[in-house]
Amino acid sequence: MSIMLFCEVFDPHVWLDAFKKAAPSVAIEFWPNVKHKGEVELIAVWGKPTFDFGQFSHLKCISSLGAGVDHILANDTIPSDIPITRVVDPGMWQQMSEYVVFAVIEHRRRFFGYLQGQQNKSWIKQSEIDLEDYTIGIMGLGSLGQDAARCLKALGYNVIGWSRTKKDLPGVHSFVGDDEFSEFLSRSNVLICFLPLTDDTRFIMDKALFSKLPKGAYVINVARGQMLVDEDLIEAIDQGHLSGAFLDVFQREPLEPEHPFWTHPKIHMTPHMSSNPVVENAVAQVLENYDRVKKSKLLLHEVKRNQGY
Ligand code: OXD
Repeated sequence: MSIMLFCEVFDPHVWLDAFKKAAPSVAIEFWPNVKHKGEVELIAVWGKPTFDFGQFSHLKCISSLGAGVDHILANDTIPSDIPITRVVDPGMWQQMSEYVVFAVIEHRRRFFGYLQGQQNKSWIKQSEIDLEDYTIGIMGLGSLGQDAARCLKALGYNVIGWSRTKKDLPGVHSFVGDDEFSEFLSRSNVLICFLPLTDDTRFIMDKALFSKLPKGAYVINVARGQMLVDEDLIEAIDQGHLSGAFLDVFQREPLEPEHPFWTHPKIHMTPHMSSNPVVENAVAQVLENYDRVKKSKLLLHEVKRNQGY
């Protein structure tokens, strides 16, 4: 019996070495060079699997090697009774919180302005935004969003959150569901998107949403590019309604060279690096689930397929 690794955009040997080190006796195969498809009981996925899951007759579990599962759920060959799990890892929260804290502080205190200032040898202080006028709205309060809320709160920021169900986070007002969405947006001077990609959230960040944010609001997207209508973002910035954006994820990755985001003066971007899997931690969770699957025990971090996350 074996684990199969599907790795689209990451060096598969990094994963293989970690699996071999953590569990030398477990047989591991790589897609597409799988000799014994009937032996595969667990498939661990990084990237978008486009193969037919039906060919693995003894498959018992599919594990995302990251936090998201939208790329797996997009494959419609997965039998409905096969559980799908994801990685929930404080090592990833830490990186993500560093990223959004950096983006927020850069925006409020204008650090990139000083980079330019240094090039021009100009000793000029940038105008900063007062903390009192600055509320951070976190859209999506799963484990990553909650950790970012805690970190921003610890730095003295006013933080509010919006999610499907009410969350109890000290000092963070929790807005819930469609009824409270507009009020949440109207108070968010910085909007950070942590939502999972589902049919409900696809292209949620559009013209209508931006018009509900206060003038001068800033948008940070660390979730999925498919939640953002790119042209609407550019229009809202160019019309002066939004002050800019910090983006880590894009509809198509790598972002095509002719995309206007690359050269927009008010858009900062990074190549989907806000939170990388901590390989040893992800492997340990996959192996734990492999063991649980064999013993028919409850799995760690199983996704609710009907909700999409
Ligand atoms: C993830 C990601 O899903 O990094 O973990 O996108």
